[in-house]
Amino acid sequence: MTGASAGIGVDIAECFAQDGYNVILAARTESALRDVADRLAKAYGITATPIPADLGAIGGGQKLADAIAQKGLTVDVLVNNAGYGRAGAFNGSDAATQLGMIDLNDRALVELTHIYWPRMIANRRGGVLNVASTAAFQPGPLMAIYYASKAFVLSFSEALWEEARGTGVKVSCL
Ligand SMILES: NC(=O)c1ccc[n+]([C@@H]2O[C@H](COP(=O)([O-])OP(=O)(O)OC[C@H]3O[C@@H](n4cnc5c(N)ncnc54)[C@H](OP(=O)(O)O)[C@@H]3O)[C@@H](O)[C@H]2O)c1
Repeated sequence: MTGASAGIGVDIAECFAQDGYNVILAARTESALRDVADRLAKAYGITATPIPADLGAIGGGQKLADAIAQKGLTVDVLVNNAGYGRAGAFNGSDAATQLGMIDLNDRALVELTHIYWPRMIANRRGGVLNVASTAAFQPGPLMAIYYASKAFVLSFSEALWEEARGTGVKVSCL
């Protein structure tokens, strides 16, 4: 579960915890992750493991997967939720901010899915939940890269869903 220290990610993590799943919570802010993990573990009697990770960094997904493996944990359901959006004209915008949206919203999402997908397909079980946005449905002037990044998430998810047909692996896009 990425982006599990704040916002929508905390609520999605809670939904899984309510259903009895053990959860791995990833984001950059370790203290916030610990607070969420402690609360969910106490409330639902599940194991919640916080793992700090910067998924905007190139290779951040692999680093997170390595940390998960080092703890002897596996991922049955991957939730790609971490993401951000910045508004403003493309002209004059900060390149690092624009590219950072692609790195987090798309690149890390693909990286993590690419890591966990083969095992899910081989085991004929598991799932991927990708958090997009209604921004996925149309271009967004003055928020062009965010909207485009979410269109990518929706398109990728729909294609994966088709590839997973008949395998038992579920793909959802929020
Ligand atoms: N809120 C909305 O209205 C809305 C609408 C449609 C779609 N969405 C999508 O829903 C998702 C969650 O949004 P939100 O509103 O809940 O956002 P949020 O409150 O800003 O939370 C974002 C989460 O992602 C984590 N994150 C940010 N940068 C990260 C990085 N580089 N590496 C790892 N984790 C990182 C944050 O934790 P740290 O800062 O601790 O890393 C936090 O846990 C996003 O993909 C967003 O695009 C949101």
